[in-house]
Amino acid sequence: MIGRLNHIAIVVADLDAATARWRDVLGASVSAPQALPEHGVTVVFVDSGNSKIELLEPLGDDSPIGKFLERNPDGGMHHMCFEVDDIIAARDQLLAEGARVLGSGEPKIGAHNKPVLFLHPKDFNGTLIELEQA
Ligand code: CO
Repeated sequence: MIGRLNHIAIVVADLDAATARWRDVLGASVSAPQALPEHGVTVVFVDSGNSKIELLEPLGDDSPIGKFLERNPDGGMHHMCFEVDDIIAARDQLLAEGARVLGSGEPKIGAHNKPVLFLHPKDFNGTLIELEQA
């Protein structure tokens, strides 16, 4: 069902500092920051060649990653995202297997303007998994 690893998302407390670190210490190519108010984050994309790393900084007072940063003040890996060919078929198959889909179960439009869903981390070894329509 799951296809290509689209991205790994890392929550950071200071996006400018994190950008500098990935660019200057790891030698990575990092995009300009993009504010996504509807998602409560500011994001930069790190091009890792075969995939992307997204560095996410909370934006606004009720950012969905605010709590994560409270629990993990140094930041940390937040989720990984796999592409699927048909997100509704993938969801229905996962539900039939007993996996839990977060929220209403209906896909939302994600940071790449494609439908996304999130799967409960307790069903996947403590890892939050995002599915994105390819
Ligand atoms: Co993501």
